[in-house]
Amino acid sequence: MTPLIVSPKRRYLVEFNPKRVPHLFTDVLIIGAGITGIRAALAIDPRLNVVLATKDRLKESNSAYAQGGIAGVFDPVDHFANHVADTMAAGKGLCDREIVETVVREAPERIHELTTMGALFDQADGEIALTQEGGHSHRRVVHALGDATGKEVMRALIERVRSESHIDIWENTFTIDVLTHEGECRGALVWNASHGKTFVWAKQTILATGGAGRLYRETTNPEIATADGHAMAFRAGCELRDMEFMQFHPTVLYIAGSSRHLISEAARGEGGLLRDCFGNRFMPDCDPAAELAPRDIVSRAITRQMEKTRHHCVYLDLSHLPKELIAERFPHIRQVCTQFGLDLMRDLIPVRPGAHYMIGGVSVDSESRTSLPRLWAAGEVTSSGLHGANRLASNSLLEGLVFGLRAGRNASAAACGESDQFTALPLRLDASAAVPTERPFTDRNEPTDAATLKLDDLLNSLNSEMWRKVGIERNAIDLESAKLQIEFWDRYVGPNEFSITKGWELQNLLLVARLMVAAAIARTESRGTHSRSDFPQTDPDQAEHIRLVARG
Ligand code: SIN
Repeated sequence: MTPLIVSPKRRYLVEFNPKRVPHLFTDVLIIGAGITGIRAALAIDPRLNVVLATKDRLKESNSAYAQGGIAGVFDPVDHFANHVADTMAAGKGLCDREIVETVVREAPERIHELTTMGALFDQADGEIALTQEGGHSHRRVVHALGDATGKEVMRALIERVRSESHIDIWENTFTIDVLTHEGECRGALVWNASHGKTFVWAKQTILATGGAGRLYRETTNPEIATADGHAMAFRAGCELRDMEFMQFHPTVLYIAGSSRHLISEAARGEGGLLRDCFGNRFMPDCDPAAELAPRDIVSRAITRQMEKTRHHCVYLDLSHLPKELIAERFPHIRQVCTQFGLDLMRDLIPVRPGAHYMIGGVSVDSESRTSLPRLWAAGEVTSSGLHGANRLASNSLLEGLVFGLRAGRNASAAACGESDQFTALPLRLDASAAVPTERPFTDRNEPTDAATLKLDDLLNSLNSEMWRKVGIERNAIDLESAKLQIEFWDRYVGPNEFSITKGWELQNLLLVARLMVAAAIARTESRGTHSRSDFPQTDPDQAEHIRLVARG
């Protein structure tokens, strides 16, 4: 299929004069410090200098919020072939079998490696404990601290990366754009409150910026998940693909006034049931796997049941499970519910779906190579071929480990082979030092004064628009209407020169929303997480990726 062409409207988010911005040289620059970025950093040859830049504190990554766990075959009755088959079945014809096989086979080694770095996984009878999640035919999800796997894994990784003297960690540092010169990545322009804008010139750059959940009103993602990596890679000329596939997690705590807490799929894996507001189970009528059907099926079933019963949520019921099991497996969820006066052992928990995981992203090959030379990418910011049209539960931390390692190893080998002269300053950046490549605005349509824009109001409006029209169920009328609305906002927000991260984040979100809508309009079928009420069937002729490239 020929790629869709979308104009990013500008090459760089800010204008700058390279002579007036401080410059720093490093061998490898890693943007993003979740499980993927840190795993990549730990794979770099210690003789090289590494800058690991993260927009918040090191402990604030999406990975740290992961509850369920990491999928891997450990049970002797299980087999790699089962994990491959389950991943492929969830992916609905768009997984790359070779990638799936590689990742599945590597899983036990990558998980074991985490234990050697100090991560403590839960045990049962002296063996690694395994739980079940939707779409898995066997118990194969390893977990930690009961239901706080990400927290424990990130604790161990952060401790380790902080001990490496060749890795310079830049916290609270926002990457505005990757820099390109003669069609190659040469590092990035970053900003932080202490130093302002800085050019970080790098022999090799790795993008590990995570996801885009903050596009939606209802999301499990923390505030940092604003699609920055997707947007900066697209502006730099990388191909993106599968952008129509946003995964909605079926069970997000729905209580007015609370943040949208994830209620792990493991809760259903251990026997939790979904009930509507009349107390009736509805999943057995929707899928033979009932509550353990893949996430897209459960999310749609919940939405339909909410419409049918005209109620704002459904309920998760764990009250029939042994109290010791609940206490041991879900201490974190229990604590969150207790804050709202809900007892997991007795009460029904109000839940509904929310945006959870961005399946689409920067196209990478099996070695984490993007279409832009010297730029590698891994984890949620990418489309590697592992997830297809719907990600299998607990395959995402695994992908971060496998591809983070590859990105780090490959970037390291490439940087080792280069002379230091490489970092000599390019005289001219691509798209001539950040003058926007295109300003398609008439005099009547000039950018608004950045200072007068109410960014929170715009973000709320974008979140609602995406939730209502580019959400769990889509149709052509809603998608076309979302396209016009988002383009309208982007016309006056896009060309602005912001000097705060909120402004850059909004610009990134608007660009990525445009890419998602373009891909969702183009896929005139239902497949995996992309459900079109006007095209409810899966069309075998559309079993291919939708690719997106920038104009010009
Ligand atoms: C969960 O615990 O349900 C989330 C795990 C995942 O997203 O894979």
